[in-house]
Amino acid sequence: MSSSKQPASTSFKAPDSSCLQLDEQGRLRHFLTTEGLSKDVLTEIMDVAESFSTVSNQAVKKVPVLRGKTIVNLFFENSTRTRTTFELAAKRLSADVISLNIATSAAAKGESVLDTIRNLEAMHADMFVVRHSDSGAAHFIARHVAPHVSVINAGDGRHAHPTQAMLDMFTIRRVKNEFTNLKVAIIGDILHSRVARSQIHALNILGAKEVRVIAPKTLLPSDVDSLGVHVYGDLRSGLNDVDVIIMLRLQRERMGGAMLPSEHEYFECFGLTQAKLAYAKPDVTVMHPGPINRGVEMDAAVADGPNSVILQQVTNGIAIRMAVMTLTMGHNRVGG
Ligand code: CP
Repeated sequence: MSSSKQPASTSFKAPDSSCLQLDEQGRLRHFLTTEGLSKDVLTEIMDVAESFSTVSNQAVKKVPVLRGKTIVNLFFENSTRTRTTFELAAKRLSADVISLNIATSAAAKGESVLDTIRNLEAMHADMFVVRHSDSGAAHFIARHVAPHVSVINAGDGRHAHPTQAMLDMFTIRRVKNEFTNLKVAIIGDILHSRVARSQIHALNILGAKEVRVIAPKTLLPSDVDSLGVHVYGDLRSGLNDVDVIIMLRLQRERMGGAMLPSEHEYFECFGLTQAKLAYAKPDVTVMHPGPINRGVEMDAAVADGPNSVILQQVTNGIAIRMAVMTLTMGHNRVGG
């Protein structure tokens, strides 16, 4: 692909390696995927996030870690949680942050992604946070930015959503303390979920005892056997004895045709209710990356119930994104 002829809307080549994201010392330069990273790197992200977790409770919700740095949010796809928490994280680190409105930007006039990046680099941007509907978009940008610029993947197609996975790991660690005794079930649309892929890699790297996926056959990826998971087609047997349940949204926008009989039937078979929760451990933790479709993947009573940590996940997203921004910019402690 010629970088100078990159069209505004394009399919990026799917990334084949995660080595791009580490520098020569093995430190994070970009954060593009959890796949291939070490347990030490993932643990450091959570430890640094822990050190930032009290900043949001301070009277002045700021630390000077990234003062003088310029961070640009480039969201080519819709977002509520990720975009807002990245923006808040950058502000709490005292960075200058711009969230470009793609719909009203020159991208709408046909400017290529790479030309947009080059122009923002000419304004001395230090970091790009990128969400794009094409798998590989963040990798493509990371391969073309200046040496001092970092790229964080805020979700690319079906491929990866690494900061979501890390805020989920951080939430699990805060509730359950560790991973090696945990059985975790991920339920729903695994096929279209970049979140599920990033979670599965992270859980296996962190040594979870067992990672299960529970889904209808039509919503499983063809490479599911290579992901290091146990596959269940029946919700009740899949939930047996699990410590953590992660529900996924049906990603209608990524489904080409009819992959399900009806939402009602899907809810009957795979929707989480208080009654079905009883198959898991009594202290099971219920998670969802959001946005939730109540009554499709889970009952409102479960989403808002005592086992749910869904809003804690959102809060934890700020600290995790502060940690990832700090580490990729070469700082590794509060005030560093
Ligand atoms: N979980 C998540 O990525 O949500 P948004 O699409 O709202 O960012």
